Amino acid sequence: MLTIEEISKLADEYAEKHPKEIIALALESTQNLTISFSGAEDVVLIDLAVKLKKDIQVFTLDTGRLHPETYAFIDKVREHYGLTIDVMSPDAAKLEAYVKAKGLYDFYKSDHHECCGIRKVEPLKRRLANLDGWITGQRKDQSPDTRTDVAVIEQDSSFSTPDKPLLKFNPLANWSSSQVWEYIRMFDVPYNSLHDRGYSSIGCEPCTKAINPGQHEREGRWWWEEQTAKECGLHQGNIIAKG
Ligand code: ADX
Ligand code: SF4
Repeated sequence: MLTIEEISKLADEYAEKHPKEIIALALESTQNLTISFSGAEDVVLIDLAVKLKKDIQVFTLDTGRLHPETYAFIDKVREHYGLTIDVMSPDAAKLEAYVKAKGLYDFYKSDHHECCGIRKVEPLKRRLANLDGWITGQRKDQSPDTRTDVAVIEQDSSFSTPDKPLLKFNPLANWSSSQVWEYIRMFDVPYNSLHDRGYSSIGCEPCTKAINPGQHEREGRWWWEEQTAKECGLHQGNIIAKG
């Protein structure tokens, strides 16, 4: 098990390395590891990883509110790479009780945290429970408010427990959106068709809008809320770390 000091040393050492080398480090250092795939441009992680390990584990959180294009894309990726993708669903009883009490669009009136908690965070916790590490597509340039300090490797501050530390690898942390798209075009990687219609960052359908040229990519996510609150709980550690 790596100590916090060793993790931070590795983060410095790998900060400037190619995402493929960071994924290789994840595979070498971590036994039970999975990629967290949102159905957007983080498909790059899968393309890089299958070049190192054909049967890499991948999961996605099916909130029940994704765009039809995202569902189609998740299945396309499954077929294209010959992968099994674990599609995680929310707990039915919790979701039914929540929708019964608050309706299907409560996030516009309250905020997105309760809905994201049930549809994303609880299934994520379940998926991460027996893992040693996970790989995400977070990038620093995704959010000047919450993601500028994302390290390429860190101990997950939200989902580690005292007896079970969880490593979090963010191989794209130091890549820009342009670098991601250069990779997608260069290697003919399949991508979500919403990207061709002005959707930059893609989440759930009711909480994601296309953006105009010049807008920051996360402006289309939870647009009715403050920029600094735009973490849904998957990466809540980014807000805690920012204080
Ligand atoms: S979010 O927290 O605001 O929704 P974002 O869309 O920026 O996250 O994606 C950052 C990374 O979080 C993705 O590359 C992916 O690793 C993970 N992620 C986000 N949404 C999902 C999802 N629905 N299923 C699995 N992983 C996800
Ligand atoms: Fe609910 Fe919107 Fe969060 Fe999706 S992004 S889980 S619909 S609040």
